[in-house]
Amino acid sequence: MKKTPKQDQMYMQPAPQIIVSVRDKNGRNNAQTVGFAGNANYHPDMLMISIIPEHLTYDILRETGCFVVNLPMENFKKELYYIGSHSGRDVDKFAALDLKWENGSVVDAPLLTDCPVNIECRVVMSIKPEPGHNEIFFGKVEKVHVDEEYLDEQGHILWENMDLFSSLGSMKKYRDVAPE
Ligand SMILES: Cc1cc2nc3c(=O)[nH]c(=O)nc-3n(C[C@H](O)[C@H](O)[C@H](O)COP(=O)(O)O)c2cc1C
Repeated sequence: MKKTPKQDQMYMQPAPQIIVSVRDKNGRNNAQTVGFAGNANYHPDMLMISIIPEHLTYDILRETGCFVVNLPMENFKKELYYIGSHSGRDVDKFAALDLKWENGSVVDAPLLTDCPVNIECRVVMSIKPEPGHNEIFFGKVEKVHVDEEYLDEQGHILWENMDLFSSLGSMKKYRDVAPE
């Protein structure tokens, strides 16, 4: 099979497409879509999210050290796109989308309750690779919330039953929902 050299932005596929939610010191909620993210450590469990410093979410993360990773399903793609294309500096995304949310039980950040999984995290460290623009935040998993319908009788998470939003073919999906 002949291979052709190619460049892209996201090389590891499938890549997660998540929504990170935060709350500033004045109690204002914000969220942004994040594609550069992953599992980072086991025992203690940690996640990593890579954030562009110009974003409002970045400022809040630096200020509070708290965030929630929300795993959206396909039925949330319009919200995912909106949250990933509008800044909280310009618009209250929670109000604009009438997002349903609850307070985190451990960290001071909102859980997006339309997402079947919400992972409360506390930042333990961050690094800014050189050369590079993003800052990578490592968050210790403090609490994981899963909709009961996605748990079996032993309490195992039924990932295969969730129609999680996938990065595969995502650009086409974004074109489907993006404003002209
Ligand atoms: C599919 C998708 C993936 C994205 N991935 C990232 C990411 O990994 N890191 C990042 O900082 N921004 C990412 N963004 C862009 C932010 O979500 C977007 O700029 C957002 O408006 C920032 O909001 P804020 O200023 O309220 O924090 C992504 C956007 C989309 C649509």
